Amino acid sequence: MDNAAIGFFDSGWGGLSIMKAAREVLPHEDFVYVADCGHAPYGDQSHEFIVERARAITDFLIHKQRVKAIVIACNTATAEAANKLRALYPNFPIIGVEPAIKPAVEQSQTKVVGMISTTRTATSVRYQELLARWAGPVQVISTGCPGLMECVERGELDTPDTLALLHHYLDPMIAARIDGLVLGCTHYPFLADTIDSITQGKIRLYEPGLAVARHLQNRLASLDALTTKKTSGEEIFYVSNLTEARKAVAEHLMPGISHFNALPEETA
Ligand code: DGL
Repeated sequence: MDNAAIGFFDSGWGGLSIMKAAREVLPHEDFVYVADCGHAPYGDQSHEFIVERARAITDFLIHKQRVKAIVIACNTATAEAANKLRALYPNFPIIGVEPAIKPAVEQSQTKVVGMISTTRTATSVRYQELLARWAGPVQVISTGCPGLMECVERGELDTPDTLALLHHYLDPMIAARIDGLVLGCTHYPFLADTIDSITQGKIRLYEPGLAVARHLQNRLASLDALTTKKTSGEEIFYVSNLTEARKAVAEHLMPGISHFNALPEETA
């Protein structure tokens, strides 16, 4: 047993979609979440930049926050930096997030599925490997979606501009008769209702939150590192470039959260 907290990080608030699922599965664990809003979006950055941010945040979580495991609650950072982080911390549990290609492919009737993500994820080697492994005869239409994570970061989940941007990315996929849509960025589950309004709920959405949360639980159990606490777990947040507006968006996306701090200077 280990009563230390679990660390999460993302370029902003998207990783809350993963943390919410983890909260369901692990109600007694404490969480420390780093939102790297000051360096977002990762999806438009270079490989080197993303690796450097992921390394700095991981160092902060391990050495300053003393977490017992880290969830990279970001597809882009997983694709670009997970291997590097695991090489730096070989004995430390680091759990990544990957687009849910496998279930979408397995359940497709039309044999065409869509995947939306950041440009960096869509063009990553890791994503190509995922496709090679799971796509088989199914056509996977993927598109990078610049601008979409920013809609979530601004808390604009269903404004006319967000709707227009979603139409821009999704209409060609709908015309190609996709029957599943992989949400390959942790920000996008917050747009699920708006996406459903465009597809009239006819296209199944795939997000990895629950699978990641269960994987985390199993990993901690196998290390005998689950908490012994019986009280409700707490969440604490460290944010680069913390503003009142950013707090308000986070509170909207995950009602009830409160403990916001500025990420210390040396990490921010
Ligand atoms: N939430 C992120 C992801 O899952 C990244 C968004 C961004 O910073 O571009 O890919």
